[in-house]
Amino acid sequence: MVEAYGAAAARAVEAGYDFLEIHGAHGYLLTQFLSPLSNKRADEYGGSLENRARMIRRVARAMRASMPEEMPLLVRLSATEYLEGGITVEETAQVASWLKEDGVDMADISTSGNYPAEIRVFAGYQSHFAAQVKHNAQIPVAAVGMINSPRLAEYLVGSEQADVVLVGREALRNASFALEWAREMKENVDYAPGQYARAWNTRR
Ligand SMILES: Cc1cc2nc3c(=O)[nH]c(=O)nc-3n(C[C@H](O)[C@H](O)[C@H](O)COP(=O)(O)O)c2cc1C
Repeated sequence: MVEAYGAAAARAVEAGYDFLEIHGAHGYLLTQFLSPLSNKRADEYGGSLENRARMIRRVARAMRASMPEEMPLLVRLSATEYLEGGITVEETAQVASWLKEDGVDMADISTSGNYPAEIRVFAGYQSHFAAQVKHNAQIPVAAVGMINSPRLAEYLVGSEQADVVLVGREALRNASFALEWAREMKENVDYAPGQYARAWNTRR
């Protein structure tokens, strides 16, 4: 599996991607190693946090070795499974700090893992986990989860809770959201397609 991740990274580089992200969240294989609820191994890949993190660390090193030095490598981590005995944000910060040593440039902090759980959802509901990882692990972080207004995005970055915000469903609801947010924040953006300019520069 470690070699397969390295080979996948090499193919992605060849295909021309600008950055790569390891999926270490949401119950996928690497989360299953990280979570004490799912990882019942008795070898060097289970038990202590150091052991549970061994797989994702090897994957990160294999991917980094297949990538140009200047190409960003991100990792998505679930900071909590919202379950007793599951992954904690403190553990996630430690894992992020180890992954930084392994060549990861930014941690994208999401939540929830292998099992269903009660999740209290509100605007920016996962951002405080991102902030805690940023400050404990001293690694740049991306916040995600119902970041649905430019003011909230500005607040999260301005208050140094996150270095980057990621937006999912807002982009599904409104494909022009980035242009609208830039307009609301009185930012000039230079990437609007030329054909759109008349729609954005005039209200007539
Ligand atoms: C249709 C859909 C598909 C998604 N697929 C993935 C996925 O493949 N991998 C992943 O990490 N997150 C996935 N997500 C979660 C988003 O990446 C994001 O973390 C989540 O929607 C919260 O951010 P938002 O409130 O801005 O949408 C998906 C979300 C939606 C709505």
